[in-house]
Amino acid sequence: MSNNIVWHEHEVDKASRAKALNQKPSVIWLTGLSGSGKSTVANLLEKKLFEQKRKTYLLDGDNVRHGLCGDLGFDDKARVENIRRISEVAKLFVDSGTILITAFISPFKADRDFCRSLLQENEFIEVFVDTPLEVCEQRDPKGLYKKARSGDIKNFTGIDSAYEAPDSPEVHLAYKDEAPEVTAERLFNALIEKGLV
Ligand code: ADX
Repeated sequence: MSNNIVWHEHEVDKASRAKALNQKPSVIWLTGLSGSGKSTVANLLEKKLFEQKRKTYLLDGDNVRHGLCGDLGFDDKARVENIRRISEVAKLFVDSGTILITAFISPFKADRDFCRSLLQENEFIEVFVDTPLEVCEQRDPKGLYKKARSGDIKNFTGIDSAYEAPDSPEVHLAYKDEAPEVTAERLFNALIEKGLV
């Protein structure tokens, strides 16, 4: 914790921003293996919410690792720091009144729970994109599983680095061999039915 720094309360607060935007600010936190479809589904979900005039933003693993987290690798310590930074950013987005969608492997329960702990009840919506390893490896869109199997990449999630599945995610997208548009629709409907967005 930094010393000699005082938190400023702002005149325009989260509640007034949310009211002006006519929406419930939240983080829709997608977690799952590399190649599980997180980014694709997140993109499609954002499009749906955006079309409904919601104020949204999307933070994605590969993109954030070009900038904010460009100095981090993939050992356990770096992954913890990656999710810690993203969680703090997520909190700021929620404070801004935004519906934030995130698409990170976020393999460790404790780190996802850390983000939840920064937010209020119902602001953190955990979505498990539960695509089995065999399917992700079969898809291998970036050729990374192949490299992990041959030892060219170390600490690859699901191969030689752990993935801790959520115990009770708000939404569980159990794998069905279906178009991402259909999965995004299922997610959107689940969020609406549960009154989360
Ligand atoms: S996380 O584990 O720290 O949450 P994050 O979602 O930011 O990961 O980044 C994952 C993306 O980085 C993957 O989709 C993949 O493209 C790439 N990547 C590169 N090396 C690895 C690795 N060792 N393990 C997992 N993903 C990797």
